[in-house]
Amino acid sequence: MNPYSLAFGKKPEQYISRPVETEKIKNDFESGNQPVYIITGVRGSGKTVLMTDVIRSFDRKEWIVVELNPKRDMLHTLASKLNSENTFVEIFKNAKINLSFFGIGVEIKGVAPITDMEVALSKMLKALDKKGKKVLIAVDEVINTEYMQIFASSFQIFIREELPLFLLMTGLYENVDALQNEDNLTFLHRAPKIEIRPLNISYIADNYSEVLNIDRETALEYAKLTKGYSFAFQVLGHFLWENGRMDKKVMTEYKHYLFEYVYEKIWSELSNNDKKVCRALSESKEGKVSEVKELSGMDTNNFNPYRKRLIRRGLINGDTYGYIIFTLPMFDEFVMDN
Ligand SMILES: Nc1ncnc2c1ncn2[C@@H]1O[C@H](COP(=O)(O)OP(=O)(O)OP(=O)(O)O)[C@@H](O)[C@H]1O
Ligand SMILES: [Mg+2]
Repeated sequence: MNPYSLAFGKKPEQYISRPVETEKIKNDFESGNQPVYIITGVRGSGKTVLMTDVIRSFDRKEWIVVELNPKRDMLHTLASKLNSENTFVEIFKNAKINLSFFGIGVEIKGVAPITDMEVALSKMLKALDKKGKKVLIAVDEVINTEYMQIFASSFQIFIREELPLFLLMTGLYENVDALQNEDNLTFLHRAPKIEIRPLNISYIADNYSEVLNIDRETALEYAKLTKGYSFAFQVLGHFLWENGRMDKKVMTEYKHYLFEYVYEKIWSELSNNDKKVCRALSESKEGKVSEVKELSGMDTNNFNPYRKRLIRRGLINGDTYGYIIFTLPMFDEFVMDN
């Protein structure tokens, strides 16, 4: 079986760890330093895989992990998921929390049902806190829905009440940005973001060398072709394994796969001016900012915000002063073809 995975959203067999990010989130949650983290990055950069890896690393004796979907009533789902475990049901019963109004749990004699979900959850979390439990909410692919806003504003209140609640989210930059700019969600505005970095090229080379059984120098050459882009690491590995060696066919398959499965999608999500900047960058000789601006036909006031936004989306890298480059492998070729 091919050890490299073309599937999105689940931890691949050939996994390259991200110890810095994982430890940072884990330590800050465990020490109570930080109640929220947001993982952002371009499509296919490994947000979901990183989140999954982090949430799996928490000790389940102490931590309760609940995944929520921003397209559904998150508070209600949280309450019913907490109430779906027998040990917790016992805790809520003993704390005399009557959730029957919401169609969750059982009637408790002599106790009026709670009719406000925020109140109910606050009581449930207090009861769990007394038992030394902490609740970690995970939201993959956050979007700025009304449910998400309601959830976030309740979350803000729970944190103020010092309840043991933590939130880990992933999302595309533009979606996270839209949510963070909601007026009433100021705490999210300050929430730390982890922008996913490319995978370490040396680690990729080590992996290819070992798994594909090739010398380290050749493996490094192949690793560089991926630019550290998580999805590209899997795709190139997959076709190299399948073909048994590097040749033109592997490179074509690799390219087509990237184009078809992610770049088309990324491209369709860009605005016209984003695209203009990308086109200008692909036409430029070496990505000099002044040259790209010139080629885009935009003036500085127009150009700069788009350049910055593309950097925040993780699509271009501006680490070298005065220059920009595409972060994704062969994206320049893709842009020229479009
Ligand atoms: N740390 C890693 N090591 C090796 N491969 C990885 C790693 N992280 C992600 N991948 C691979 O990259 C691909 C994309 O990962 P993932 O689904 O996490 O991306 P994503 O950022 O959540 O994308 P999207 O925005 O489309 O949801 C998958 O094929 C996955 O196997
Ligand atoms: Mg994802």
